[in-house]
Amino acid sequence: MDMIIEPIKNLESIISIPGDKSISHRSVMIGAIAAGITDIENFLPGEDCRSTVHCIRQLGIEVEEISPTHLQVKGKGPGGLQEPENHLDAGNSGTTIRLLSGLLAGQDFFSVLTGDASIRRRPMARVAEPLRQMGAQVWGRNEGRCAPLAIRGGHLTGISYHTPVASAQIKSALLLAGLYADGETAVTEPAPSRDHTEKMLQAFGANIKVNGLTTVVKTSSLTARNVIVPGDISSAAFFLVAGAIIPGSIITVKNVGLNPTRTGILDVLEEMGAKITITNQQESSGELMGDITVEGQALKGVIIAGDLIPRLIDEIPVLAVAGAVAEGKTIIRDATELKVKESNRLKAIATELTRFGVDIQETDDGLIIKGRRNFKGAVCNSYQDHRIAMACALMGLVASGQTVVRGAECIDISFPGFQNVLNSLYI
Ligand code: S3P
Repeated sequence: MDMIIEPIKNLESIISIPGDKSISHRSVMIGAIAAGITDIENFLPGEDCRSTVHCIRQLGIEVEEISPTHLQVKGKGPGGLQEPENHLDAGNSGTTIRLLSGLLAGQDFFSVLTGDASIRRRPMARVAEPLRQMGAQVWGRNEGRCAPLAIRGGHLTGISYHTPVASAQIKSALLLAGLYADGETAVTEPAPSRDHTEKMLQAFGANIKVNGLTTVVKTSSLTARNVIVPGDISSAAFFLVAGAIIPGSIITVKNVGLNPTRTGILDVLEEMGAKITITNQQESSGELMGDITVEGQALKGVIIAGDLIPRLIDEIPVLAVAGAVAEGKTIIRDATELKVKESNRLKAIATELTRFGVDIQETDDGLIIKGRRNFKGAVCNSYQDHRIAMACALMGLVASGQTVVRGAECIDISFPGFQNVLNSLYI
């Protein structure tokens, strides 16, 4: 599907965005192994989270869809999953395949996990290897490094594991496996990654302790809880940046998750010169949320690197768009993880923004962007990567003439309704 974007002058809008993808996945998986009914409101009905629901149903758990955004997971407790009849399909979703690998490593049965062409290329050794160390049998293509993965779980022993990269997917897989392991499972990260799993496990009554960069979990029985999923800051990011890059704009995004492990984008936009205000701050199911208002002003280039990277890992494509219009250089470093996301996001964003006339260069571990104004609309590719498609659409707002985003249907992976929200800005 082609998405057509026309340039826009200044924006004044109050918008809502769909539920958080990471929290939606976790609510279904954790709900499935908790005793009782987990009622989930504002669930993200995107393709990735649908893949998780489908897999969980194949594992014998009833998930009732009251509406696309309101689910009830009829959890059967820690021993309630059953061997699936067929392979489990994670689709395009890294969170589904990696977190489920951890959960399945704890189950005394055989299962096979696979996904689309992008998932089958992405690295799985990062979860398979520590799960093997815990005692699970995990096979995979390419000497066990890629999906399809076959898992024969059960009889795990806790380990103390230092993850080589700050990745919430690795950490979460090991914590879920740790719920079924003898003794303690300790996961230490090189820098903090998103901590939604830890927060949700705590809320569901797990035996879990966080001490700085180390999280320790022991065998636990979970009790169902109701979850209200906050809006996804990674989806809000596209509209926050839209407000920031068009001087004179003012955009409010309502009910956005404000977990500090996810708010790196706000720090960066402020440093670039955007004015950000947070109102109506409250807590929902252990997660902070609130309304974010951005006022667009002239932006300046910044350096984005180090421990900040995991706090905005999914926002780098859209921050490259902010860098394109900022005065001076924006330098992104320490971001090699972007090469193994749904696409090679460093290459994809450098290639596509160049089509608009952006001065952007890919480096070994990031991007260098020299900001300027006066861009021309372009025909660009999504690489079937939702965040690349939306970043290109955003670039189209500040480019003269028409922009076409090819393969824009992939946006439904994380942000169904993106085009409607975008169209509402023109009114
Ligand atoms: C996610 C963690 C991040 C992020 C992904 C969602 C999660 O991946 O990029 O979109 O829900 O845990 P990594 O943990 O591999 O960095």
